[in-house]
Amino acid sequence: MNLKKILLPPVFEKYNLMKYYHILFNKKKTIHLFKYERNFYWRVAFINKAVAKFKNCNYLELGVANNRVFNSIPLKMNKKFGVDPSEGGNFRMTSDEFFEKHQNLKFDVIFIDGLHHYDQCQKDCINSMKLLNPGGIIFLHDLLPRCEIEQVIPQSYSTWSGDVWKVAVELTHSTNVDFKICNIDHGLGILKLKNDFEYKKLDLKNSTFDEYLSFKKDFNIINSEDALDFIELN
Ligand SMILES: C[S@@+](CC[C@H](N)C(=O)[O-])C[C@H]1O[C@@H](n2cnc3c(N)ncnc32)[C@H](O)[C@@H]1O
Repeated sequence: MNLKKILLPPVFEKYNLMKYYHILFNKKKTIHLFKYERNFYWRVAFINKAVAKFKNCNYLELGVANNRVFNSIPLKMNKKFGVDPSEGGNFRMTSDEFFEKHQNLKFDVIFIDGLHHYDQCQKDCINSMKLLNPGGIIFLHDLLPRCEIEQVIPQSYSTWSGDVWKVAVELTHSTNVDFKICNIDHGLGILKLKNDFEYKKLDLKNSTFDEYLSFKKDFNIINSEDALDFIELN
């Protein structure tokens, strides 16, 4: 067991303590309104399936944290780019700084999992779309919060998705994109682009959780088997 876990057991971590507070005093906002598919996959399986599709894959991950996903990518270091201002990866900077400095790079697979705020995720998505090679695939994490508290800004809960579901709404309404969400692992968005794609900004800053529940009915939510097929499809 590592020293940090001995000195600070997970139950005493900040967001777990806040979680217990909400469960006691804010219960309604913590009740899960749906379940993720129970299966034998998590995001790494899908991202790696996409990586394996490309002969000389260039991989970009925005928000790397403890390298759990990044270390699973079986590419040489000159083919994988992990961007995080705090920990993990090989580019110690924000995603905005990365896109500013590396406008000429192109990627086949991009995993967007940085700051889980609508405006930042929207920027990350639009910037990623510009750097995606034809036929490439973009993944976005945490698009399906199960209860209100999981999407409240700022974070006050351990299983936190933020309000990046608003980007899922915009992608659902965007032009010439093929966008689906796999109902696993807090909602894994899978995005492919067609010619003349256009990201649709909808100004959802003040949209509420109830609105999310209504938008969610229009999401193209798929299971793991269909997600594997979708990734494979050219
Ligand atoms: C949810 S974690 C990433 C988890 C990782 N992708 C995984 O699947 O295991 C989010 C990470 O985003 C990073 N982050 C926060 N703001 C960012 C920004 N502006 N640009 C890039 N990364 C950012 C945080 O430091 C944190 O490590």
